[in-house]
Amino acid sequence: MKFIKSIIEIIKERTSWRTYEPKPLEEGLRARLIKLLELEGVKSPFDDLAGKYRFGLIGMPEFDPNEKKKIGTYGVIQGAQDFIVGAIEKSEYDREAYGYLMEYIILGATDLGLATCWLGGFFNRTLFGLKFNTTENEIIPAITSIGYYPKKRRKMEVVVRKSIRADKRYPWERLFFNGNFSKPLVQEDVDDKYATLIEMVRLAPSAGNKQPWRIVKDPDENMFHFYTIEVSGKYSVFPPIDIGIAVCHWDLTAKELGIKGKWEILRPDIPSGGYIYKISWHRQ
Ligand SMILES: Cc1cc2nc3c(=O)[nH]c(=O)nc-3n(C[C@H](O)[C@H](O)[C@H](O)COP(=O)(O)O)c2cc1C
Repeated sequence: MKFIKSIIEIIKERTSWRTYEPKPLEEGLRARLIKLLELEGVKSPFDDLAGKYRFGLIGMPEFDPNEKKKIGTYGVIQGAQDFIVGAIEKSEYDREAYGYLMEYIILGATDLGLATCWLGGFFNRTLFGLKFNTTENEIIPAITSIGYYPKKRRKMEVVVRKSIRADKRYPWERLFFNGNFSKPLVQEDVDDKYATLIEMVRLAPSAGNKQPWRIVKDPDENMFHFYTIEVSGKYSVFPPIDIGIAVCHWDLTAKELGIKGKWEILRPDIPSGGYIYKISWHRQ
């Protein structure tokens, strides 16, 4: 799929929506969305290291009244008539690949004028697994609610957004580094074109707005290494998805700006002090 708007505009425009106009998607729009879910010609840098995946749309009418009470999104999501559900085979990079692919879909949906919200926690995995016929070898790392924008966000949603400071992101110095983790990176340290790519990562959504991505610029000024912070407990499953999202933002923006690059797992010799290395990008 070709996006209608610029990817930079779409990234800036996207926010999470937990309130929807409670009406089903108009047929033409639904068809375009289903086409988008095929991800024709889309490849994440993690795809060669991950297994097969599939995405589909599950609408409210597919749940019987008893199941509707158990969807698990109540209290958080209101009015949504559809959910994007995906399953990916279990593998070392399953969540990273899924993060990239679902974010591609979310950016495409934003381009189509639809509101979305990543849902990693608040949904009934067993029920969605049954509806999506998942096998034992597949996981559903997260789903996405999707629908028409409401006239305004309901009060409860405004409170949720405030509590996780959803409109805010950490400054560059906290997220990005120059050469090693002891030297923060500031915008003046990088070429303008790279500054845009880094900024598009900074604007990415992340579970609980934890912003776990870290980037280290290599002494070779055309090379960047991507890491995540380590998270323990039940949130530990999210940084791998979040890094997939960040890589998607970087990758699509680089393509839009005509900056050709290559993703590789290089495991650079940088003392990481607890950060987890994921992948590197270098200009070609
Ligand atoms: C992997 C992932 C899982 C998420 N899970 C939930 C969730 O279960 N419930 C929820 O309300 N928001 C969820 N979010 C949305 C984040 O809270 C949101 O992206 C973040 O606060 C930044 O706000 P923004 O998306 O409006 O920019 C999730 C986001 C990501 C990336």
